[in-house]
Amino acid sequence: METRNLAVKQVSYCLFLSIFVIFSFQAHFSEAETHYHEFVIQAKPVKRLCRTHNTITVNGLFPGPTLEVRDGDSLVIKAVNNARYNVTLHWHGIRQLRNPWADGPDRVTQCPIQPGRSYTYRFTIENQEGTLWWHAHSKWLRATVYGALIIHPKLGSPYPFPMPRSEIPILLGEWWDRNPMDVLRLADFTGAAPNISDAYTINGQPGDLYRCSKQETVRFPVGSGETILLRVINSALNQELFFGVANHRLTVVAVDAAYTKPFTTSVIMIAPGQTTDVLLTADQTPGHYYMAARAYNTANAPFDNTTTTAILEYKTAPCNAKKGKQSTPIFPRLPGFNDTNSAIAFTSSLRSPSRVKVPLQIDENLFFTVGLGLINCTNPNSPRCQGPNGTRFAASINNVSFVLPTRNSLMQAYYQGQPGVFTTDFPPVPPVKFDYTGNVSRGLWQPVKATKLYKLKFGAKVQIVLQDTSIVSVEDHPMHLHGYHFAVIGSGFGNFNPRTDPAKFNLIDPPYRNTIGTPPGGWVAIRFEADNPGIWFMHCHLDSHLNWGLATAFLVENGAGKLQSVQPPPLDLPRC
Ligand code: C2O
Repeated sequence: METRNLAVKQVSYCLFLSIFVIFSFQAHFSEAETHYHEFVIQAKPVKRLCRTHNTITVNGLFPGPTLEVRDGDSLVIKAVNNARYNVTLHWHGIRQLRNPWADGPDRVTQCPIQPGRSYTYRFTIENQEGTLWWHAHSKWLRATVYGALIIHPKLGSPYPFPMPRSEIPILLGEWWDRNPMDVLRLADFTGAAPNISDAYTINGQPGDLYRCSKQETVRFPVGSGETILLRVINSALNQELFFGVANHRLTVVAVDAAYTKPFTTSVIMIAPGQTTDVLLTADQTPGHYYMAARAYNTANAPFDNTTTTAILEYKTAPCNAKKGKQSTPIFPRLPGFNDTNSAIAFTSSLRSPSRVKVPLQIDENLFFTVGLGLINCTNPNSPRCQGPNGTRFAASINNVSFVLPTRNSLMQAYYQGQPGVFTTDFPPVPPVKFDYTGNVSRGLWQPVKATKLYKLKFGAKVQIVLQDTSIVSVEDHPMHLHGYHFAVIGSGFGNFNPRTDPAKFNLIDPPYRNTIGTPPGGWVAIRFEADNPGIWFMHCHLDSHLNWGLATAFLVENGAGKLQSVQPPPLDLPRC
């Protein structure tokens, strides 16, 4: 933050000394910066839980490097694939206006970068600030290939809250005591659910409560009375998490790189893909306090019930503490694993800071059922049918279980006019109406596999009601839309009622997000304007569900105006 303060001081100085204005303009206001990085994707030995794994990393770092930029800046990131897997990188939450080529999902906007090859992601941050992140978007590589992407306001624009003394990215992750790619491969073979993780992590470390981990527990020093900004990111593969810091209140100021009306809470619930910025004031007795995260689990299925910790350490903690004799840090009170009331109390407190421009007239009124399913096998005793009662797990939206193309990426096929890679007949409503959250007849459990997209006219005003189903199990599905952020205008339990529920929508100050969970056995409604042409993936950010087909994509057509068409693809875009 040193350089920022310096720059701000210099700005005010310049107001009085016009001769410096020109100089400063060149030095600091040269509109925006371009940041060049090389991301080498490579295996690297990483030791956790007493065992070393040959872990796929970026530049040998786990978690990967933090990117820090300002709104308006551009990024040029050369991704060099020195690993043995195909890979792509995704900049989660970046709008990528007219530029799907830099978005990254494998077989959606690009063919993967093959081992030994490279691809340069080029994109500009346009009117976004806050906490986002980046991750691999191919199979389960994002288990270890991820990092923070922090967008500061433009030079000279302040935060809409008091300047914190320091800022800390808190990346919550999930660790397997084996190669995550093998975990996925085994699940793909058997059709059963993938193995649950062995640990959660904070900035790559499991913390005090796990074997062989105590030495490396992450510690965050803080001065008494200081206010710090925690940029919490859920980069876990498959688990919503509760997060809290012992004895400290958290003031929520932003989610998914969109500011919120500040409110205080002792615990946050954060789903994979989401980010939450909180202010914390070190106003307690100097000492050591645990920050901890553990599962918020909504499905009727096995889950990792362990707890990851880091330590908030007052610099002025009593001396004996420094000699390592400190009493065990105080532990935060976290809600029970299935405490949906606490989860909903948190998410329903989120508001935009002031009135926002939500689309009021809707052109596309979509109703999407979201949930699991089972594929029946001709031979239920087959080793490939180890799901419930000799089936294979699947997942779907409106009964379509999404299949990624193999011959080409969707975006490349669309741009080149190559037929036969996808169709645009994704159903706007489920093919059959049923009691979505009731006792669903077995005849409705089996989805259809297909590569169906939903076409949107440029500028269409879209509403989507995402309705969880109770097929196999109800569950909180964190749904992520690429290329957009959307207003979250309402949610509820049970089946959405189109006659009565819209009256309760918040069209005044709903929060903006890029990832929103369906309440388990409930629905959530979102709105956005389709002002970004291209093909944009929408999927459950639980990677096990994504792998089972809980996805679709929007094909947003070009508009007629000047800046309303997809840019031409870069020359080094990988081919399939
Ligand atoms: Cu964070 Cu499609 O992903």
